[in-house]
Amino acid sequence: MSLKPINKNNELTENHWLIVGSSGSGKTTAVKQLGIVGATDQVALFDPYQDYDDLCGREVRRYESLAKFARALFAGRAAKKAQGFKIAFSPVDGATPKNLEAFSKIVWGAGNGHHKKPLKVVMEELAKCVTTSGKATGAFGEILTGGRKFGLEAICIFQRGQEVPKTIVGNCANKWVGRQQRLNDAVYLSKELDFPEQAIKTLPRYHYLIKTNDHDIGEFDQGKLRKLKS
Ligand SMILES: Nc1ncnc2c1ncn2[C@@H]1O[C@H](COP(=O)(O)OP(=O)(O)O)[C@@H](O)[C@H]1O
Ligand SMILES: [Mg+2]
Repeated sequence: MSLKPINKNNELTENHWLIVGSSGSGKTTAVKQLGIVGATDQVALFDPYQDYDDLCGREVRRYESLAKFARALFAGRAAKKAQGFKIAFSPVDGATPKNLEAFSKIVWGAGNGHHKKPLKVVMEELAKCVTTSGKATGAFGEILTGGRKFGLEAICIFQRGQEVPKTIVGNCANKWVGRQQRLNDAVYLSKELDFPEQAIKTLPRYHYLIKTNDHDIGEFDQGKLRKLKS
């Protein structure tokens, strides 16, 4: 069975995010804290390590079964409740290309360019799930290249810039960069994402650089995360 999104809408703007930082730099915290997703958003998560018990004060409903995840997601999309939802797929065998692709097919099929709310799609541990650093392929690639028109907004999380397929770099208008552990990685990221090299090299832990759709060329913001209560 192949699911297809509906109601292509060219007026929607691209709103994908690329999140890159070393382990422990605050990537997951940034997603929870910086308004990248909101309390009343509709959010699907690929969450192999179960990093999200709650998100923006809302419980995350977690499924190990793809079929149950799909049912919950489609029911949530159809219900159109004002409070939104947070629904995670956490496959038992973890972050694999096969699991990401299975998740992506469901999410792609939940796209609807006339839906009142976008579907935000948080994807953790992507380096383990993408097989080349060139083109992103399959349904995962479709979300990145064609998702905009169907209200799909991807949030793609990686540890190092070198792991990120070029399709993702090219399609994410919004970027978050946390501390890098190696100078080489900082240099690579500054070239690929167009941040000043020195700004990335000198980032302390929990500090970040951010660039969104609203910034002009060369502009960016910086900030520091708060520790979340656990
Ligand atoms: N400003 C901060 N001060 C202290 N600890 C923090 C701060 N920001 C985040 N943390 C903590 O650091 C840990 C790692 O953050 P996390 O977001 O999980 O990193 P990543 O997803 O990049 O591996 C978490 O336990 C988080 O609560
Ligand atoms: Mg994390």
